[in-house]
Amino acid sequence: MPDLKAPLLFVDDEPAFRSLIVERLSENGFEVTEADCGEKALQLLEQVAFDVVITDLRMPGDIDGAQVIETAIKRYPGIVGIIITGYGTVKDAVDAIKRGASDFIAKPFQFDELMHVLQKALEQQRLKQENAYLRSQLDERYSMEGILGKSPPMQALFQLLDTVASSNSTILIHGETGTGKELVARAIHHNSSRHMHRCVALNCGAIPETLLEAELFGHVRGAFTGAIGARQGRLEQAHKGTLFLDEVGVMSAALQMKLLRALQEREFERVGDNQTMKVDVRIIAATNSDLVAMVQAGTFREDLFYRLNVIPIELPPLRDRREDVPLLVHHFLKKFAASSSTKVSQKAMRLLMAYSWPGNVRQLENALERAVALTAGRDLIDLGDLPPEIQALPEEISHPTVELPDEGLNLPQYLAKIEQELIYKALDHTGGHRTKASDLLKIRRTTLVEKLKRMELAKK
Ligand SMILES: Nc1ncnc2c1ncn2[C@@H]1O[C@H](COP(=O)(O)OP(=O)(O)OP(=O)(O)O)[C@@H](O)[C@H]1O
Ligand SMILES: [Mg+2]
Repeated sequence: MPDLKAPLLFVDDEPAFRSLIVERLSENGFEVTEADCGEKALQLLEQVAFDVVITDLRMPGDIDGAQVIETAIKRYPGIVGIIITGYGTVKDAVDAIKRGASDFIAKPFQFDELMHVLQKALEQQRLKQENAYLRSQLDERYSMEGILGKSPPMQALFQLLDTVASSNSTILIHGETGTGKELVARAIHHNSSRHMHRCVALNCGAIPETLLEAELFGHVRGAFTGAIGARQGRLEQAHKGTLFLDEVGVMSAALQMKLLRALQEREFERVGDNQTMKVDVRIIAATNSDLVAMVQAGTFREDLFYRLNVIPIELPPLRDRREDVPLLVHHFLKKFAASSSTKVSQKAMRLLMAYSWPGNVRQLENALERAVALTAGRDLIDLGDLPPEIQALPEEISHPTVELPDEGLNLPQYLAKIEQELIYKALDHTGGHRTKASDLLKIRRTTLVEKLKRMELAKK
């Protein structure tokens, strides 16, 4: 539905037709202004910031509908412009779309058709604006719909989500356990035009094979032992929305075949029924198995794989994006800690960043929940609060290590280089503030200045 009383400009030279449409549009919640020619329309566009302009293409006078739309878009880039065409002018309408009109409708039409075109265009416009908003937020906050990440692969993922969400394409998400597959699937649904409808999840791995088919497609009464009444399947429940098929890798060959058909034809039968049902569902599938290998081994249908893998999304394991660990740690601290002053000690953070996280973000989340519980009011999370497997990391990981090359090294030069690097880092950290930098390095300010001088000299 349009915003309450969205201002709309309707332009047509035929008085009877115009007043009819204007009346119906007003009944449908628009604040309509009318114009009988292009010149008048341009005049009105100067005065009012319309949300929508609907205009006839051919009109008497020098200004045609395409020009009206073009001027409107130039002045209000977010405006929705719809062209009305008569016979034989569809090609011109297509040209107008290339120049920025949202859609066109051919005369004669029913009012409902116009409303349909209009609502579709408004929805698209809304999504575009929302995506732009999300993008602007990303820059600042490294997050999208509760998915956090500043690492390059996560930033790339956000961009991808931004573009694929509004499409209707089937998506296959691949990633290790706990990498956020379900989180991502739901984010896509929320950012799609289907968000008003349901996102129904079915975890194929959690349901016995014998019941999975009925769960997916539904069943009629008496379809199998225990099928007391008829039941809708998840596919039907997701009509107009999204079906999230988790762990698709575990389906039997027979069920893979049936799913393939449902994907291809968007139709299926309930178990025990011979009546065919049609559904309009977007599928997002997820797996932590290597489906390509399964296709090669003959345990997963190749044609089904291609049907699902229209847009592949790969979620990187946490150990491949360790720079996201501090961000996630702070996020989960905020979630679990009673006090906002709760911190993680440097040593503990070093270990959290060094650990390999086989259970990925979920494991990190659990580790922090546990750590917060163990601190029992203390506001510093330290080594002893971390799970044993993380504490058990070899000692050297929490200290910098150097290798001694076989050919040996020049110790004074080597140490000077490390010293120089740490001094630059400290200055970087404090924005060039020498007193603060010397505090960080636990040396006197005069010593730091002395060292800087020597470094400058050494450069010359
Ligand atoms: N990038 C992220 N930012 C914030 N939270 C995340 C992120 N990735 C995962 N999580 C959180 O980690 C937990 C696991 O995520 P999710 O259930 O989506 O993983 P999954 O890939 O579906 O795992 P599995 O394969 O085990 O089903 C959830 O609580 C989720 O909110
Ligand atoms: Mg999952």
